[in-house]
Amino acid sequence: MASNAETVPETEIPIEKMRAVIAPETYGDWDAALDLFDDLRETAPIAKMVSSDGSFDPFWLVTRYDDVMRISKDNKTFLNNPRPVVFSTRDAIEFSIKATGSKMLVDSLVVFDAPIHPKYRKLTQDWFMPRNLAKMEAEIQALAKSAVDRLVENGPEADFVPLVAAPLPLHVVMQILGVPEADEEKMLFLTQQMFGGQDADLSGSGMADMTPEQITQIVAGAVKNFEDYFARLAADRRANPTDDVASVIANAKVDGKPLPDRDMAGYYIIMAAAGHDTTSATMAGAMAALAQDPKQFARLKADRDLLPGVVEEAIRWTSAVQHFMRTAAEDVEVGGVQMKKGDWMMLSYVSANHDRSVFDNPREFDALRSPNRHLAFGAGAHQCLGLHLARLQIRTLFNEILDRLDAVELAGEPKRSNSTFVGGLKTLPIKFSGA
Ligand code: HEM
Repeated sequence: MASNAETVPETEIPIEKMRAVIAPETYGDWDAALDLFDDLRETAPIAKMVSSDGSFDPFWLVTRYDDVMRISKDNKTFLNNPRPVVFSTRDAIEFSIKATGSKMLVDSLVVFDAPIHPKYRKLTQDWFMPRNLAKMEAEIQALAKSAVDRLVENGPEADFVPLVAAPLPLHVVMQILGVPEADEEKMLFLTQQMFGGQDADLSGSGMADMTPEQITQIVAGAVKNFEDYFARLAADRRANPTDDVASVIANAKVDGKPLPDRDMAGYYIIMAAAGHDTTSATMAGAMAALAQDPKQFARLKADRDLLPGVVEEAIRWTSAVQHFMRTAAEDVEVGGVQMKKGDWMMLSYVSANHDRSVFDNPREFDALRSPNRHLAFGAGAHQCLGLHLARLQIRTLFNEILDRLDAVELAGEPKRSNSTFVGGLKTLPIKFSGA
C-alpha cells in the first residue's frame, strides 16, 4: 500500500488544539467544535497528536472526507484491532486490562478484523436488512405512538429527550435483543457502569469520586453481570428459539462451534450500547432542526415525500458517532503523510460530514440535500450494522409526529452532552400544538 507520492512533513498542531480535539467539553459546544475542525481540515488535515504529559499514545487525526472514506474502506491496511477502537488514554487502557484482561473492555464486532469479523458479521447481517426489519414496523410504530402520547400528555411545553428520543430507541433495541421490559433499567445501569461516561449529567455512575481500584471493580463486575445475564438469555433462546436477534446469536455457529461466552456477550453488548444513544441523539437532532425552523416543519407536514431526505440529513447533521480509531497494518501514505505500521489514527466523522468540499453549507440543515453521501454510519466492512433499523425508527417517529403535531418551536436553549465518542442533545425543550 505504500505509495511513491511525494510526502509532506508531519504536521503537529498547537497544543491547545490537541487538547480541544480530545476534550469531551469541546463537543458540548457544537459550533466551537465545527470551527476547530474547519480550521484543521484547512491547516493540518492529517495532524499528528502528541500528548505533552504522556497521557495518551500519539495518533494521527484525520479530518477530510476523502481520507476518512479511503481509510474506512481499506480494511486490510487499516485495522480495528489490536488497539482500542475509540480514543482512550493510557490510564483507560491500563484500567481495561486490569478489569477485563484485554485492552478492549468488550470483545465485539468493532474490535475484530478479518478473518473473524466477516464470519461474525454474517451471522446477523440478514436480520438487519430492510426485508426482515419490515416485520418490526408495526411494533416500532406502536412504540413511536406511545412516545408521542407521552409528549402530548406533558405538553404544550416539554423536554423531547427524556420523553421521546431517549426511551424509544432503548425499547426497540431491548426488544430486538429479547430483553424483557422489566430488565431494561438493569441493562441501562450496567451499560453506564461499564462505559463510565464523560458527562457528569449522563453517567449517573458516581464514578468521579472513586479510586481507580473501586472503578476497576465496578467495571469488572458490570462485564461479569452482562456475561451472566446474556448467558442465561442465550440458554433460554437455545431451548426456545424465537425470531429475535438474540435467538440468532444464541444458536449461531462459527467454524462449527457456538460463540465463546465473552464473544457472545460482546455481540449482545455492542447492540445494546450502539443501538440506542446514537439513534436517540439523531432523533433529538432532527427535532431541534425542525423546531429551529418552523417553516421546514410545515413544509414537511405538507409533503411527506421529503421525510427520507430529512432523516438522512438528520443523520449527517447530528453525526452522533463522532469518531472511531484504526491502526495501520503496514507503512502507508495517506493524504501526503507517511504513516508507519502500528500507527494509530482517529477518523473524525464530525469533520468529514462538515467538509465543504463535499457538502455545501454543511452547518445548514437542508431537507433537500442531494446527494447526501455522509459518513455518519462509517464505510467499508464495519459500516453500521443497524443503519436500516436506525432509519426505520427515525422515519416512523417523525411520521407519527407529523400526523399528530401541528407546529413545533424551541422553548429554551438545547444542551449537548460532553463526549468525544457518541454525542448529541441531552435536553431539548420544545413548545408544540397538536394532540
Ligand atoms: C443514527 C444512528 C446510528 C449511527 C450514527 C451509527 C453509527 C455507526 C458508526 C459510525 C459505526 C462504525 C462504522 C465504521 O467503523 O466504519 C457503527 C457501527 C455499528 N453500529 Fe451503528 N449507528 C447507529 C445506529 C445503530 C443501531 C440502531 C444499531 C443496532 C443494533 C447499530 C449497531 C452497530 C453495530 C453492531 C456496529 C458495528 C459494526 C461492525 O463493526 O461490523 N448502530 N455505527
